[in-house]
Amino acid sequence: MPDVTAEQVLEALKSVSDPDRGGDIVSLDMLQGLTVKDGKVSFSIEVDPARGPELEGLRQEAEDAAKSVPGVQAVAAILTAERPAPQLIPDQPAEFSKMQLPGIKSIIAVASGKGGVGKSTTAVNLALAMASDGRRVGIIDADIYGPSIPRMLGINEQPVQSESGQIMPLNGHGIPCMSMGFMVDEATPVIWRGPMATGALEQLFSDVEWGDLDALVVDMPPGTGDIHLTLSQRVPLTGVVIVSTPQEIALADARKGLNMFRKVEVPVFGIIENMSYFLCPDNGKRYYIFGDGGARREAENLGVDFLGEVPLDTRIRETSDEGQPIVASDPGNEHSETYKAIAVKVWDKIRAQG
Ligand SMILES: Nc1ncnc2c1ncn2[C@@H]1O[C@H](COP(=O)(O)OP(=O)(O)OP(=O)(O)O)[C@@H](O)[C@H]1O
Ligand SMILES: [Mg+2]
Repeated sequence: MPDVTAEQVLEALKSVSDPDRGGDIVSLDMLQGLTVKDGKVSFSIEVDPARGPELEGLRQEAEDAAKSVPGVQAVAAILTAERPAPQLIPDQPAEFSKMQLPGIKSIIAVASGKGGVGKSTTAVNLALAMASDGRRVGIIDADIYGPSIPRMLGINEQPVQSESGQIMPLNGHGIPCMSMGFMVDEATPVIWRGPMATGALEQLFSDVEWGDLDALVVDMPPGTGDIHLTLSQRVPLTGVVIVSTPQEIALADARKGLNMFRKVEVPVFGIIENMSYFLCPDNGKRYYIFGDGGARREAENLGVDFLGEVPLDTRIRETSDEGQPIVASDPGNEHSETYKAIAVKVWDKIRAQG
């Protein structure tokens, strides 16, 4: 099987022209995030949203062109809508039409405010814990700048397209997964323009063959940016779970994140405290290195539930680094039990939303 390079695919894509604008999609700078790995090709074509529905033919043509390159085994091409970034107008929420996602019963965002507090670790273990009693749970990695869920779930492939043109999610430990990272090469830092990123995010919900899901967990990027606004305005979120570490600097950011979701009327299910204490493997003692009980107090002050605390433990980091999250690889472990107890509370919250 010949090795395929991005240059070869790019060359082939130069034969595809935009029916309205003349010119080919490469010269017109419509091609984004081209990835070629082990014969699998993925890219997106950025188009004006008004033209989106008419351009399925263009997408198909581009896919066929890429497929014609010798050695290419699978191609995933998606249309990305470029549209103005959503504006949040306080006290006067604009009418944003929500996406219709009939097969997905509930959508839970995992957010934090501050980066690096363990959102992705929590999201992945929570999704696995929510699925541990047989319910169907999927996960979306919405972090454009540092996608990490596929790695944590041990997924090494790229998604491909089904015959109907939908993207097939990949499976990690029984959980269907899609990531913004599938659209870019992990080794190549990509600068996404705001509207492009939000367009791609929407496609992770609407253009993926999710099937019937009881819940879809969304791992958010840190902060309160465009992605958060798009998500709260376009996606029918059932609720949000906030992850924080116990120290004030993280809690202050958690507060900001929480208030943003409140402003857009997304129910806040509660706060999970991560890295609550260090569990010393030598003596089993707990060391409250970031202070004791910060997130629990914060939850009380903010009038939201405290969903549970997860300690800082090497096993949690190692297992997710290895693509074997603790809930999947060691379900009887005390931390796995903690994640499952949190999952029960989250299911209760989902049920309460009707
Ligand atoms: N409870 C824990 N015990 C030990 N290590 C942890 C724990 N939670 C997270 N980590 C480790 O901390 C690091 C950051 O975690 P993670 O990537 O989940 O954070 P994040 O909030 O998603 O970060 P980002 O803001 O960059 O998306 C990872 O190496 C992870 O393995
Ligand atoms: Mg993360």
